[in-house]
Amino acid sequence: MSAHIIVGAEVAAEIRAALKEEVAQLKEQGIHPGLAVILIGDDPASHSYVKGKEKACHEIGIYSEVIRRDASITQEELLAMVEEYNQNPNIHGILVQLPLPKHISEKAVIDAISPEKDVDGFTPINVGNMLIGSDCYLPCTPHGIIELIKRSGQSIEGKHAVVIGRSNIVGKPVAMLLLQENATVTIAHSRTKDLASITRQADILVVAVGRAEMIRAEHVKSGAVVIDVGVNRNAEGKLVGDVHFDSVKEVASYLTPVPRGVGPMTITMLMKNTVEAAKKLSR
Ligand code: GUN
Repeated sequence: MSAHIIVGAEVAAEIRAALKEEVAQLKEQGIHPGLAVILIGDDPASHSYVKGKEKACHEIGIYSEVIRRDASITQEELLAMVEEYNQNPNIHGILVQLPLPKHISEKAVIDAISPEKDVDGFTPINVGNMLIGSDCYLPCTPHGIIELIKRSGQSIEGKHAVVIGRSNIVGKPVAMLLLQENATVTIAHSRTKDLASITRQADILVVAVGRAEMIRAEHVKSGAVVIDVGVNRNAEGKLVGDVHFDSVKEVASYLTPVPRGVGPMTITMLMKNTVEAAKKLSR
């Protein structure tokens, strides 16, 4: 068996086309969605992600401001910048790219973002609302993963979903969203014993560990849906996921590739949240 490949880039393109039309209509009503992205320091991966966000804004017609600052910025300066955007009526979404330099408290910065402009879904208000299934901005990667599974035609309800990884950005929230969709959810992580015995029970396996090609065919149940959130360079310098694509595609029924899998969906969900924020804040 060879898995169906879920090409996130294609799904993302469909959603972005619909968003582009929606933004054009909003502009006719005098609403021009705007996103501010704040990038601190010189992490190459962060710079590349932010470029992708800027490009997507441009493509869809969302006004974007990208603020790039040296890692020497103080926490106070960054907090003041966030507060300015909280007050700026042309900006409906604020994203502070993580990670931040060590001398800055990520929690303090996230807490400073107005929940109404928190299109990343990282503030405690949005995280809490997500947990209780209330209206909120969903975090972009977890939301993108759920959309990919649903749009591939696979049901989530009643399935055993195993999430590997427990980060605040991906692992924990995607586990909550899968639970909301009525999956039975197991979270595995770096201290989990006998990982393969757990992952082999998964009907849906979401891998967000950050280790190149760690999940191989022997970790995967025949017919499982496998979602690869990893972005790594292998020994040859090639971009690869956390899943060993060539071996797992012979076992899984559905599999996302890296690149062109989850990544484009993350950015697309950010665009969707920004458009939603513009509509809500303009009411
Ligand atoms: N760093 C890695 N992923 C993300 C994300 O989704 N949002 C932000 N703000 N930073 C990130």
